[in-house]
Amino acid sequence: MQELRPDVYSIRAIDWDRRLFDELIPLPEGTTYNAYLVEGSEKTALLDTVDPTKTSILLDSLDSSGVDKIDYVISHHAEQDHSGSIPHVLARYPNAKVVTNAKCKSMLIDLLHVDESKFLTITEGQTLPLGGKTLQFFDIPWVHWPETMCTYLQEDRILFPCDLFGSHLATSSLYVDDEPLVYESAKRYYAEIMMPFRTVIKKNLEKLGKLQIGMIAPSHGPVYNRPEFILNAYQNWVGDDVKNEVVLAYVSMHESTKLMVEYFTQALIQRGIAVKQFNLTVADLGRLAIALVDAATIVLGSPTVLTGAHPKAAYAAFVANALRPKTRFASIIGSFGWGGKMVDQLAGLLTNLKVELIPPVIAKGQPKDEDFAALDNLADQILAKHRGAGIAK
Ligand code: FEO
Repeated sequence: MQELRPDVYSIRAIDWDRRLFDELIPLPEGTTYNAYLVEGSEKTALLDTVDPTKTSILLDSLDSSGVDKIDYVISHHAEQDHSGSIPHVLARYPNAKVVTNAKCKSMLIDLLHVDESKFLTITEGQTLPLGGKTLQFFDIPWVHWPETMCTYLQEDRILFPCDLFGSHLATSSLYVDDEPLVYESAKRYYAEIMMPFRTVIKKNLEKLGKLQIGMIAPSHGPVYNRPEFILNAYQNWVGDDVKNEVVLAYVSMHESTKLMVEYFTQALIQRGIAVKQFNLTVADLGRLAIALVDAATIVLGSPTVLTGAHPKAAYAAFVANALRPKTRFASIIGSFGWGGKMVDQLAGLLTNLKVELIPPVIAKGQPKDEDFAALDNLADQILAKHRGAGIAK
């Protein structure tokens, strides 16, 4: 346990080796699962637990620190990386009550079979006095499941937002001591986990903006003792502004699509548009997600295989569609040998995105002069759209 403030402690399980979350999200820097302990003069509360693979770290830490009584286990989020050790904590501290909202209670019963008698259900804005320490609870839905909530420790002005503001970063540092590194990890985390809920997060930020926050203690990554660092970053990410950038994600089988991608990249650069190019055969899905946080335009490049889109291009389109970035424009480039439905398939996978689809450029076989001219035209159209959006010269 490490002290954040008098009688407020962090208990972290550092997972240096984890490389995948939800069997989908790459974690190149590992992660941490952070629980917190608040000791009042009368009651003691544990805020969240840790991933079930790290239960022993949590219990050993409580034991070695002489914590012989826990009255409340605050559960902000039913996902198992925070709730998974609750049954073990309840077994070790049988008088503890699980404090959470009604939705999270229902999910904990479903997911962990926690007995209904163990719960103390709270509602929006409710306080829980511990003796000299007062916890106040706020619902902040969809960060990242519908039941998510947070705790504000009034006397110390600490916000415990669970997943919100987190970063998947295995580090021995308790606090953020390398802001550029944490910024990148937090942006990756936002892109992969929070971005689909951008609109509702805006509302949650408005609600949290009414609190005086001196410290943010999330459930992944280091603690922010300069909260404005991450609050400003989130305002930027969830805001509607986009950058003069094109995310160009492609796969090529016999170099035709690659020739088009290389030409098109230069055409965009010549027009002053930044390009973030991803070869989908080797790309890190997380880096693609990060690029989608700000880019005004996404262009998918695909050959035609088995009469349709290349599965790797379809996968990228599916993921982009699920992440719902604020991207405003989209197009498709690529090639075909004898026909197919590649364009229709890819466009059909982007229906969640509120984008204007700019007419695709598709070459028959290896691209010819007319195809390169069409790519120049596509670059001109994107420049015009970006100028119209006020983001390009
Ligand atoms: Fe860190 Fe949504 O769990």
